[in-house]
Amino acid sequence: MVNEGESDAVAGKQAAKEEKKLSRCALVTGANKGIGYGLVRALSKKFKGTVYLTARDKERGQEAQHALSRDDRLCEFLQLDVKDRASIEKVRDVIMEKHGGLDLLIQNAGIVGADFYQIRLPDGPMTPPRWIDVADNNHNDVVNEVYSAEVAEDVVQTDFFGALNVAEILFPLLRSHARVVYMSSGLGSLRNLEIVEVKKRLVDPELSVEELKSIANDYLRVAKEKDPGNVGYPKHLGPYSFSKMCLTVLTRLQQRDIDKDESREDIIINACTPGFVATEMTSYKGTKTIEEALDTPLYLAFLPPGSGPEQSKLPRGAFVRDLVEVDWIGERDSSFIKV
Ligand SMILES: NC(=O)c1ccc[n+]([C@@H]2O[C@H](COP(=O)([O-])OP(=O)(O)OC[C@H]3O[C@@H](n4cnc5c(N)ncnc54)[C@H](OP(=O)(O)O)[C@@H]3O)[C@@H](O)[C@H]2O)c1
Repeated sequence: MVNEGESDAVAGKQAAKEEKKLSRCALVTGANKGIGYGLVRALSKKFKGTVYLTARDKERGQEAQHALSRDDRLCEFLQLDVKDRASIEKVRDVIMEKHGGLDLLIQNAGIVGADFYQIRLPDGPMTPPRWIDVADNNHNDVVNEVYSAEVAEDVVQTDFFGALNVAEILFPLLRSHARVVYMSSGLGSLRNLEIVEVKKRLVDPELSVEELKSIANDYLRVAKEKDPGNVGYPKHLGPYSFSKMCLTVLTRLQQRDIDKDESREDIIINACTPGFVATEMTSYKGTKTIEEALDTPLYLAFLPPGSGPEQSKLPRGAFVRDLVEVDWIGERDSSFIKV
């Protein structure tokens, strides 16, 4: 027979478990270095709840976690490779068991598939204004930006399909008022796409995620045969630009779809560009420090909860640069690099 004291203890344990299940948590992908690491560093002080630093490589991830803890920045580590759905499912199970849901997801992991040290213009180095010119005019007369079908496949599978893997597996965990931030790029502007038919499909308000996947797969089919930049797809850092374009489109579709989900409210999904940032990805050629690059993703991560007229002014399913929503469809997005 269970006495009163024992039953109180059982009830107490159950309550503690329930409370733990409701505890808030945030997760950042690709966070062992660069902007992702900077984001976890900032969140560890700013986010009320557990912050998960995830990385594809266990050793690199744990090293990053330890470096942060030496700086009195506490976070948890979980292994997550965006290309490996089993690793994402494991993360889902841990989060579900420990928190019962997810409150902030920052989709940061990415690769560029080019070596910024090698890329030059025929008459000299790629200084920031020259980057603008090349990116803005969708030309690619740079030297040493060599096209490779294998690299193109890797970039699209990581930057677009990888982020989609994470979304497909972790979105069911998003609680009401959750925020999702995609690290896209100014290079993902539709101005860099010359194929009118594809452009029309990408801006179609009725486009489905399945159709978007098939557009990305069409790109990969072309990429196996030749450089898609030669047939109207983005030229400069082509696979990267096209993946980020798809990612920005995905943001809009996912916001539209999740708004229809009556079981959860006030979930906001946005994409952003951090600017041109000095990290390993850019061979430290960027014009912003990591610290300076965090403003926009953190602004989107902490969009206030609620409803009403003020809420309707917030970016939703949008592309944001320097805290301002950008027309990524029509604009010649030159200021992705601040000189
Ligand atoms: N730097 C810029 O100027 C700039 C501009 C616009 C947008 N962005 C975007 O911002 C994000 C962060 O860029 P960054 O400059 O910080 O780059 P970074 O220093 O190269 O860091 C990229 C991170 O992504 C991880 N990653 C790569 N493939 C992965 C995979 N399959 N699964 C999980 N993680 C993976 C890397 O892990 P490993 O260490 O294991 O490789 C690393 O932690 C990227 O999405 C990038 O496209 C950057």
